[in-house]
Amino acid sequence: MSNYHIKHLEEYYQVYRKSVRNPESFWEEIAEEHFMWRKRWDNVLDWDFSKPEIKWFEGAQLNITENCIDRHLYTRGDKTAILFEPNDPKEEAEHITYRQLHERVSKFANVLKENGIKKGDRVCIYLPMIPELAISVLACARIGAIHSVIFAGFSATALATRVNDCKAKMVITSDGSYRGAKTIDLKGIVDEALEQCPGVQTVLVAKRINSKINMKAGRDKWLQPLLDDAYADCVPEIMDAEDPLFILYTSGSTGRPKGMLHTTAGYMVYTAYTFKNVFQYKEDDVYWCTADIGWITGHSYIVYGPLANGATTVMFEGVPSFPDYGRFWDIVEKHKVTQFYTAPTAIRALAKENLDYVTEHDLSSLKVLGTVGEPINEEAWHWYNDHVGKKKCPIVDTWWQTETGGVLISPIPFATPTKPTYATLPMPGIQPALMDENGKEIKGNQVDGRLCIKFPWPSIARSIWGNHERYKETYFSAFPGKYFTGDGALRDEVGYYRITGRVDDVIIVSGHNLGTAPIEDAINEHPAVAESAIVGFPHDIKGNALYGYVILKETGESRDRDNLRKEINQMITEHIGPIAKLNKIQFVPGLPKTRSGKIMRRILRKIACNETDNLGDTSTLLNPEVVKEIMDNVL
Ligand code: PRX
Repeated sequence: MSNYHIKHLEEYYQVYRKSVRNPESFWEEIAEEHFMWRKRWDNVLDWDFSKPEIKWFEGAQLNITENCIDRHLYTRGDKTAILFEPNDPKEEAEHITYRQLHERVSKFANVLKENGIKKGDRVCIYLPMIPELAISVLACARIGAIHSVIFAGFSATALATRVNDCKAKMVITSDGSYRGAKTIDLKGIVDEALEQCPGVQTVLVAKRINSKINMKAGRDKWLQPLLDDAYADCVPEIMDAEDPLFILYTSGSTGRPKGMLHTTAGYMVYTAYTFKNVFQYKEDDVYWCTADIGWITGHSYIVYGPLANGATTVMFEGVPSFPDYGRFWDIVEKHKVTQFYTAPTAIRALAKENLDYVTEHDLSSLKVLGTVGEPINEEAWHWYNDHVGKKKCPIVDTWWQTETGGVLISPIPFATPTKPTYATLPMPGIQPALMDENGKEIKGNQVDGRLCIKFPWPSIARSIWGNHERYKETYFSAFPGKYFTGDGALRDEVGYYRITGRVDDVIIVSGHNLGTAPIEDAINEHPAVAESAIVGFPHDIKGNALYGYVILKETGESRDRDNLRKEINQMITEHIGPIAKLNKIQFVPGLPKTRSGKIMRRILRKIACNETDNLGDTSTLLNPEVVKEIMDNVL
């Protein structure tokens, strides 16, 4: 029996039991056999969720890029590590071998060093899905700099907030990016953001679209000439197991984005282990995850997990609808993709289009399909299973979070029987608990509650950058002694988990995690707006869409409502990005509030979802009369 690669259900249960009985020896065995260490650990695990403090493999030394690149050079030097598929199918795909990746990462790492970046410095990466994105991530890790990738769909304001929060010294970007038939002026966005970021000393600019851009003297440098001059070998920085690897921002239900901090050894071990099992990756497979490296899915399952296993990982620059809705299937056919991992929102969007887009492609290379980011509805699951997997490819519905670093609940293909809409069983080492509202664990099956995890796993985020107190408050205070996920879940009669959705004020739109507070803050910046509240409502493609209730100031009352709606969405685009735009905006005279002044989002949510039969008791509200008025004018 191998702990590392589970192949059938009985083996899963055996491995799982072992992992729970003695987590330390379980992870130690995996760490020992499958990775390259410069120094062995003194202690496998030290933890205390009340502080919270979690340390895995303390005393060990390593460099994650040696594990992801160097150690494959002897056995897989000429194998494709990254297979880059450009936005435009007429542009040739690029196969970057492990040897080439080694050289490109080393050169990039040397450029970082020559530009003053040292171990522990923060580098923000704001790039489209081009090879330089993966390479710059790995180059940071090579020299021990902490990367913080910021999704290139975020606005200048959102970028500036993140750059300042982590006090980055450098930003890596490109002149622009392709998105289907459009181009986006990334450098212009960076220029605008950096007006607010005095700490940034250098901007490295990759050339992608050959647009004319502004280069600020003394700050901005074209990347390519620096790479051309750089030395092609870079001795990796030896890192301690708990040295920070990266910061990745995610939305919270309140306040500023949270810079989740991930560290080196545990993150590496867990992402590599889960990649191997969740996708049943085998040596000659071609694995493709359609996420952007700007999200955790891309970090763990485009870059680190696959490369740590010596896999071929596809990086796609474009969108599923360009040049037509068959693009995903065209790529699967062209590169003979074996594992395909995407989001329910993409599946729903593609399922709406003509089936010919799917059937005219040969998808016979596919073995495993995956989904992530939000609950998958039954209809989308069946469409994916019937038309993409031809009922032969198990679907892994993987539940996890930016905070968890890797997949926590998922079927293991060919081992765990799948069940539509269920993420099924916990990965080895993961101990879920469902909690009731009084903080008691709900035992047994056929129950539902709030999803917590009772025991640490190697890739759990260690802190929120610069705000450990908020980390404790957000994840470890609702249910003391346990990590609280923010999700609700049910456990069926055989112990399978189904994630039912967020139980806090985070709304998942098209698989993107959006907090209500930053959107409301953006809207409230509009001079005509007095107050606002955002809720989610079901949407057949996005999963959830946003419904905004807006109170106007007196000065706004005479304004044209449609223009105001456009301006409000423009405001959101500027502050956060187009992903957070509202689908519906209702102007209201007031918002239902409790006597202590808290907005009753539950009521607003029900109105937006058309579930007004059962609004509950509204008589205790400060202003019950406003509810009827809102209902009468619902959009
Ligand atoms: O609500 C859950 C949902 O996405 C949240 C985490 O979002 P984020 O940190 O952006 O990471 C997304 C990619 C890992 C979770 O709290 N979620 C994620 N995967 C699933 C899911 N909900 C249901 N089923 C899933 N498979």
